[in-house]
Amino acid sequence: MGETVKKAAREICQSTKTIALTGAGISVESGIPDFRSAGGLWERFNPMEYGTIGAFQANPEKVWQMLQEVSDLLASARPNPAHTGLGRLQELGLLHTIITQNVDYLHQEGGATRVIEYHGNAKTLACIWCNQRYDSDELGGQIPPKCSCGKILKPDVVFFGEPIPIRALQESYELASSCRALLIVGTSGEVAPANTIPETAKRAGATIIEVNVEPTVLTEYLTDIFLQGKASEMVTELVSEVENMMVRN
Ligand code: APR
Repeated sequence: MGETVKKAAREICQSTKTIALTGAGISVESGIPDFRSAGGLWERFNPMEYGTIGAFQANPEKVWQMLQEVSDLLASARPNPAHTGLGRLQELGLLHTIITQNVDYLHQEGGATRVIEYHGNAKTLACIWCNQRYDSDELGGQIPPKCSCGKILKPDVVFFGEPIPIRALQESYELASSCRALLIVGTSGEVAPANTIPETAKRAGATIIEVNVEPTVLTEYLTDIFLQGKASEMVTELVSEVENMMVRN
């Protein structure tokens, strides 16, 4: 793996604009299971019954059975070396922006300052009936949390069937079509429109570097440099190689 990590580090050092795309795999080592691997969330909760906006509108109490479990996991999760590693690359001026599909805020807690939350964030909630908004910590742990209008609140995360926040969509497209390198960490690449970001970057001539414990749909037809392994180990190796190269240059 040493040579492949060196190749990836060289790309990042030479690139004038690198962005990252991350998925649930980057937070697995922080104790948050991903969605589609063995033991993943969608193995335990049918996404058609718990993950669509229609399911939430029809039976919010039921959907909150899953949301409560997820929010407990998020509350105890801490950034792992993959999160802090990407934060370090930003600090070094070598990583422009992180586009994350995750709603766990661990990139920001890991020191990253420019993060696009493509699927929203679980720290705020909204009433989809009267549009009032709340911070999760002002609701005092009430489950399911209720709006002053009496309706059950929904976390500001994107459910299947909901649009991507427009600013996130536009900024991500602009970044993908102007970057020189894209670092993908821990996503299966199975969900649109997030999975069009690597394609857009590739079409713009960017080098695609992918970190995952196993090959994905992206690996076969898009990835230039594949770093197979756990995110915390691979990102740590990559960052230390980048720092070595910076010292040597
Ligand atoms: N290190 C690196 N990669 C890992 C690790 C790890 N420790 N653990 C798992 N992975 C990889 C898996 O092999 C898989 O390819 O992370 C990927 C996680 O894929 P998914 O579970 O499909 O998660 P993600 O790609 O983020 O899903 C996209 O789908 O369900 C919706 O809105 C949800 O944002 C989510 C979107």
